[in-house]
Amino acid sequence: MTVRKSVAALSAYPISPVTRRDKLRLDLNENNFGCSPRVLQALANPDRWDVSAYPEYGELYKLLSSRSGLPANHILVTNGADDGIRCLMQVFIEDGDSVVLTDPGFSIFNIFAQAAGAQLVKIAYQPDLRFPFEGFLEAAKAAPKLIAVVRPDSPTGGLISRKQLISLLEAAADSVIVLDETYHHFLGESCVDLVSKYRNLIVLHSFSKAYALAGMRIGIIYTNPAFIQHFRKVNPPFSVNGLAVVAAEAALADDDYLHEVVKVVTSEKTRLIDEFAALGIAAINAPANFLLLNVGAESDDIHARLLAEKIIVKNLNKIPLLRGHFRVAVGPPEANDRFLAAMREIGKPGNR
Ligand SMILES: Cc1ncc(COP(=O)(O)O)c(C=O)c1O
Repeated sequence: MTVRKSVAALSAYPISPVTRRDKLRLDLNENNFGCSPRVLQALANPDRWDVSAYPEYGELYKLLSSRSGLPANHILVTNGADDGIRCLMQVFIEDGDSVVLTDPGFSIFNIFAQAAGAQLVKIAYQPDLRFPFEGFLEAAKAAPKLIAVVRPDSPTGGLISRKQLISLLEAAADSVIVLDETYHHFLGESCVDLVSKYRNLIVLHSFSKAYALAGMRIGIIYTNPAFIQHFRKVNPPFSVNGLAVVAAEAALADDDYLHEVVKVVTSEKTRLIDEFAALGIAAINAPANFLLLNVGAESDDIHARLLAEKIIVKNLNKIPLLRGHFRVAVGPPEANDRFLAAMREIGKPGNR
């Protein structure tokens, strides 16, 4: 039995078999505030048909439509943004099509693009970690099938400006442009409105980060109705489960909670940058819910010591450009303090 060559050549996204539940999880940019209490209330007392009947999405689409300003036929909910990426690669990519993306970048794009048969065109970040816009403009000249942009980007924290994005949409009018806005709440700005103007634009959102619903698996695709119709052909009809719908609706009803999370993450990032500076560790402030910390040549060792303290951070040491760096999710002050205290201890003379 043979599997598709494009799939056989790939490695799956690495998921550790070891539990993360007993640890301080700073590695996957989850929201360590947890979800709004209103979400838990709604989930604690669901209508039995939310469990027993196939889910209905009408109300959720109405809410998303009024938030985004786009009619409901421009929207598709998916089983996380990840599954939206799989879905759109399946719809657009044929063997040998080129897909333009950043290096480093969010690896799910690489995996699903290649699984669909794409040739990757990687635009490298430079040491200043500025979004490599010029490289994208250059690559657009070859009319690639699809261009993926993450705004704000992970793990670099790079940011394409709205103006640059518009230039790219116009320069690459025959390419599909995917704009992943998973972290947009922390940036405080979205370009989803551009969907009504540019037919080649697909915007992805997620409930996993600012809304803290990563366990529920809900993503959103916003694009023109013709693309949505194609996506529906490859997206299972009930891919978002009934309780996830309940959770998403409750989360959307609690804007105060969302704003509080974003406010505290923003102020905590500033505080942590100063605290780390005092430890001699330079921090880069990503316009998302994470910081990049340059912990230096001993990063593998520090990573292991943190793990022994039940703290998990994303070790970026294998990425040449980010050697010696960690990516750490910023959450509530208690979580950040626990991480800081561990870093102080590790940094003490004799402990390193
Ligand atoms: C840029 C980016 N896009 C998408 C995702 C995945 O989102 P979801 O949990 O909705 O699948 C992540 C998760 O870390 C991400 O960093």
